[in-house]
Amino acid sequence: MSLRTFILGLSASFGVAWLAIVVVPFIKMRNLAPIEFSEATDGSTGIFFPKRTGRIADGAQVYAENGCYLCHTQVVRPTYAGNDLYRSDWGGLKADPDRGDTRRETNAYDFFGEKFAQIGVSRMGPDLSNLGRRVETEYAAGGGPEQWLFSHLYDPRQDPQRWKSTCPPHKFLFEERKVTGSPSDAAMPFGKHGDTELVPSSEAKALVSYLLSLKKDQAVPAVLNFAPAKSKTAP
Ligand code: HEC
Repeated sequence: MSLRTFILGLSASFGVAWLAIVVVPFIKMRNLAPIEFSEATDGSTGIFFPKRTGRIADGAQVYAENGCYLCHTQVVRPTYAGNDLYRSDWGGLKADPDRGDTRRETNAYDFFGEKFAQIGVSRMGPDLSNLGRRVETEYAAGGGPEQWLFSHLYDPRQDPQRWKSTCPPHKFLFEERKVTGSPSDAAMPFGKHGDTELVPSSEAKALVSYLLSLKKDQAVPAVLNFAPAKSKTAP
């Protein structure tokens, strides 16, 4: 084999993969036109547009800066590519009191308005696409959803069920300060030692708003709804 064929072959093998995995999806997904709900199939009107503004957007930045995406994905894969939809509450809630089974696959439109689609690099920890839903319905008992997330961020092993957790503690997102006068309303119940208290920084608050906003199971227009279990029962 001549050097010329070798170089051409090499460029072709990597070039085709690059085209198929990077260039084609980029061109297809960079300018998504909004999808409308149709009265006939969805029973509602308007466009599908998830809310991502203000503190939620700041929190996405904190999520990126701390490398959460290195261990956490935000993609519920189609059933042909994995069993994500069947893992407990990854794809939504199996029994939502109002909407019943809300589980569905993630689609490109779920990332509307996000600066980066933080789909993740590897899956060391659970998928966070619908973390907001899980925290509100399952983990919030006791202190409420924000408190649960603050406690997890400060030190995941505070939860007796997660004593082996390898999710890194992010204690630097909290400030330990001396109480002078009356204690702060924002102080963490778990951080009281003597006359010091622990308060979350603005980054921690933004991150928690972002994490609670992770609910990629909103109703989608029928054209986007790929949840296999539901399409069978649809009229
Ligand atoms: C080194 C890999 C790693 C990094 C980086 C990481 N996590 Fe985790 N995370 C895990 C693992 C493993 C678990 C599962 C164990 C547990 O529940 O604590 C987890 C669990 C969680 C959970 C609980 C999810 C559930 O439904 O039970 C949340 C919330 C979470 N991580 C948030 C974060 C946030 C926010 C960041 C960034 C600030 C982050 N993680 C960074 C590995 C990581």
